[in-house]
Amino acid sequence: MTKILVIGSCGQIGTELVLALRTQFGDQAVIAADLKDECPDILQNGPYVKMDALDRDHVRQYIIENKIEQVYLLAALLSATAEKNPDFAWRLNMEGLFTILDLAKEGHIKKIFWPSSIAVFGPTTPADLTPQHTIMEPTTVYGISKQAGERWCEYYHNKFGVDVRSIRYPGLISYKSLPGGGTTDYAVDIFYKAKSEGKFTCFLSENTALPMMFMDDAIRATIELMESPAEQIKIRSAYNLAGCSFTPAQLAAEIKALQPNFEIDYAPDFRQAIADSWPNSIDDSHATKDWGWKAQFDTKAMVKVMLENVNS
Ligand code: NAD
Ligand code: SER
Repeated sequence: MTKILVIGSCGQIGTELVLALRTQFGDQAVIAADLKDECPDILQNGPYVKMDALDRDHVRQYIIENKIEQVYLLAALLSATAEKNPDFAWRLNMEGLFTILDLAKEGHIKKIFWPSSIAVFGPTTPADLTPQHTIMEPTTVYGISKQAGERWCEYYHNKFGVDVRSIRYPGLISYKSLPGGGTTDYAVDIFYKAKSEGKFTCFLSENTALPMMFMDDAIRATIELMESPAEQIKIRSAYNLAGCSFTPAQLAAEIKALQPNFEIDYAPDFRQAIADSWPNSIDDSHATKDWGWKAQFDTKAMVKVMLENVNS
């Protein structure tokens, strides 16, 4: 049995990733780890360990003693939260990564997944259908940490043969777990407010286009990337990945088509500047060519599933 450890497992991605990995590899094979004292109910079908990604000694001891072969390292501060606490964000987003990369370099871990983000791009990047290889001058602490992380992943692969794989996730939209402090979180909140109040005040302006993806696509992409033969993985920094792309006004129009009483207004805050520095849409042709990636959810399909599943 291949033992898999997911660090940062109680967040928006981790919750669904752990469930999907357990379905594929068995409940006991996938250990959920997070800072939280208690494992959330939804993850109680398998093992849980309280773990601080910054506690290098504990992480090393646990992985070596339990013969963990694969690690998904998700613990991080996201874009909006990171801007409020840059020193800690840099520390959390980088130190945990080095701990895991070093364990793989020493031969204790066979495969690593570490997520990057569209935040690696910046205002000088071509904004439409942003290419895989392009200008990358991020202006947020989150984007700087993700760009540095990508460079280190590629370095550990090239120098030490570490099998590390990564995706530049777009903004992720889900209903099983809530998002944790990102600039794209409005695209989840909007569904909860649509169902509970019939109206939503958006913290981004109406014409701010951003790359987004429904969580089912993101989880499938992650596992497909990790299960692909190593020789197919040509990019060891992080792959561009596209799902759908929309503005708040376009998303509101899709919601209104299914829920005609829905209203939206706009009150942009500090997150507008972050969103303005990111792409409108992404070219993910390298992921398609190298490991066969294809998104299944467009905006309309995602909106339908969200409205059907979000509880008011
Ligand atoms: P999240 O904030 O929802 O969850 C993060 C989890 O990590 C939380 O459960 C938190 O308790 C845990 N955590 C925080 N500090 C920890 C520590 N020191 N040790 C152990 N656990 C710790 O984040 P998410 O949206 O699930 O994102 C996961 C990863 O994916 C992050 O690296 C993020 O940058 C990346 N990502 C997310 C998105 C998105 O839209 N959600 C997009 C791009 C990239
Ligand atoms: N969804 C993430 C954020 O907004 C992008 O990495 O921070």
